[in-house]
Amino acid sequence: MSKRSLKSHTKYSKPAAGKLERKIKALLAKMTLAEKIGQMTLFTAMWAETGPTIDNNFMQYVREGRCGSIFNAYTADYTRSLQKLAVEETRLGIPLLFGFDVIHGHRTIFPIPLGEACSWDLALMEKSARIAATEAAAEGIHWTFAPMVDVARDPRWGRVAEGAGEDVWLGCRIAMARVRGFQGKDLTADNTVLACAKHFAAYGGAEAGRDYNVVDVSERTLAEVYLPPFKACVDANVRTFMPAFNEIAGIPCTASRSLLTETLRQKWGFSGMVVTDYTAINELVPHGVAGDLTQAGQLAIEAGVDMDMQGGVYFTQLEALVNAGKVSPAAIDEAVTRVLRVKAELGLFEDPYRYCCEKREKRRILSPGHKAVAQKVAEKSMVLLQNEGNVLPFNRNLRSLAVIGPLAEAQLELLGNWYGAGDGRKVVSVTAALRDKLGDKIQITTVTGCEVDDEDDSQFKTAVAAARQADAVLLVLGENGNMSGEAACRVDIDLPGMQNRLAEEVARAAQGKPVAAVLFNGRPLAISRLAKAVPAILEAWFPGTMGGQAVAEVLFGDTSPSGKLVMSFPRQTGQIPIYYAAKNTGRPISPDKYTSKYLDCANTPLFAFGHGLTYTTFSYGPVRLSATSMPTHGKIRAAIKVTNTGSRAGEEVVQLYLRDLVACVTRPLKELKGFKKIKLKPGASAEVKFTITAAELAFPGPDLEPLVEPGEFEVMICGSSSVASGQRFTLLP
Ligand code: NOJ
Repeated sequence: MSKRSLKSHTKYSKPAAGKLERKIKALLAKMTLAEKIGQMTLFTAMWAETGPTIDNNFMQYVREGRCGSIFNAYTADYTRSLQKLAVEETRLGIPLLFGFDVIHGHRTIFPIPLGEACSWDLALMEKSARIAATEAAAEGIHWTFAPMVDVARDPRWGRVAEGAGEDVWLGCRIAMARVRGFQGKDLTADNTVLACAKHFAAYGGAEAGRDYNVVDVSERTLAEVYLPPFKACVDANVRTFMPAFNEIAGIPCTASRSLLTETLRQKWGFSGMVVTDYTAINELVPHGVAGDLTQAGQLAIEAGVDMDMQGGVYFTQLEALVNAGKVSPAAIDEAVTRVLRVKAELGLFEDPYRYCCEKREKRRILSPGHKAVAQKVAEKSMVLLQNEGNVLPFNRNLRSLAVIGPLAEAQLELLGNWYGAGDGRKVVSVTAALRDKLGDKIQITTVTGCEVDDEDDSQFKTAVAAARQADAVLLVLGENGNMSGEAACRVDIDLPGMQNRLAEEVARAAQGKPVAAVLFNGRPLAISRLAKAVPAILEAWFPGTMGGQAVAEVLFGDTSPSGKLVMSFPRQTGQIPIYYAAKNTGRPISPDKYTSKYLDCANTPLFAFGHGLTYTTFSYGPVRLSATSMPTHGKIRAAIKVTNTGSRAGEEVVQLYLRDLVACVTRPLKELKGFKKIKLKPGASAEVKFTITAAELAFPGPDLEPLVEPGEFEVMICGSSSVASGQRFTLLP
């Protein structure tokens, strides 16, 4: 290390917690306006394409002290070389901050977040985030643009893949687990990175499920549905926030002082840093709230945006805005302080190179331990949607198996979207994994049948012939990895291309034999046709690096599926938005004409939130309450006996739903308020208990502040949101 960098280490050696603010102040006092604006600027190094390409001379800007953070760059070697420019060639030697979208793993790729959420295993989600952080931190990355905590109820929107599904209560818990996983307790540790709660707010509410589209939600829905997971992130001490691209009721989030300052900082007490989304300040011009980039920059800083991602608006406009007296030097200092604070919290002033470590990089990336966890998460994420006649697990005594479908030999596709620095060549396809597992005991034939999304059925004959000849058939269907994620929305969410027809013809040819389908996809699909054609469907999502092996384990029963849906699967795309926590309406569905329903489709989903089968069955006794009434600040205990009524051991997610029957504002028909994951041997029973307090009964009152209102509540405990009845109690005044 050069003298210069050592000097800067001593100069900025990590202060004791109390001294941190003074150190930052002292540094700020030495900075020119241009250097300050540099700290508010983030440019891409283009190792990954995560938005529109815009040429920038980021290396030169770093050298000039005009760019304080870089994203889309990784490896110990490369980040060190960039860090050197900042530390050794700039006047003040302020270290760079490196960001990257580490969404579901860095090199070892885990299932997409939506899939992972179906495990309902918070500890495991925290662990996978920590492994992602461990690998990323070894490659020089300090900061992930995750978790995405947008509640999403429109599966046409491709970004549902990145979140935790449709539920608010579960979404909050998952958001916190992921923040804890990424950030840990000590940001200076070599296995933690800064997390970023995104996209603030209501991005999931894009009209018509089309990415970047406007959002127009009521203040109530914002407070009740979209904001809570963000608040949960603040409670978990997330250090950075990203405003959403969209507008809400006419105000783009990047220009929303009400969101970024009044709610986030003043009401919730967030002390971290706010970074825009990719070129989001520039987009205030096409949004139509700024006439030019100068005005856009002013709106963003006034709203509370500290750092400009890739747009170069602060970079080009801020100096003039300050000189013209339109932006106060104090506003700049506040933003820079927040940026320097997170750099200091990471210990970068003590050692700017602490995250660039080839040794760790070698040891940690794709380590056997990380891969084992990735396989476990993939297995736990899978949801057995249907299993008529107990087709699954396949019998080991089969002599032959036909593996048919466009994703039968896919590798890269199993990583899905946003797969960081993942490598498709490290993925074992389902067919290869089955071959590895079964050796020559079961003869495996593979036929593609058709591509994921085209109109060519010329291989159908071969597929049908293979199905006729084999003892059993596995269809491997779904979406391509790039059909979900950012800018990847679909107007019809059935299986794309010719896949339904392929499944129907193959299943007909294999009548009387076991036929199952495994699905790889990034969103709930409207698969009514497939559900009719085949008896068994295993939803495997995009399962990541170890997905092939995980599928093979589950198909042959070495592991039982235990995932439960965190997003409803509609019967048809036209039912969207469809979610379990719906309101009753004044004319709930009945056989009468003038009620809330469709002429051509049921109201219910094909597969409900919370649904998921396994290789055994569970029965639920009646819900028992410890009392029939509860004082406002008291509690009530709810219990239920759950029995494994099948012949295999199995896991069950026992779910607690509440309904507030009469309130001053309308309440959903049911809301998830708790769950317990239990494991039971065949024939065994467990007593599952929940405690209900005012916290579970509160909702935003007429002023949108939490209200606990006396009255009658219903308690439902079940294995899926589609199960209805429960026990009632009264909350006393
Ligand atoms: C745009 C996406 O909306 C955001 O989620 C992501 O973090 C940035 N690009 C950076 O890649």
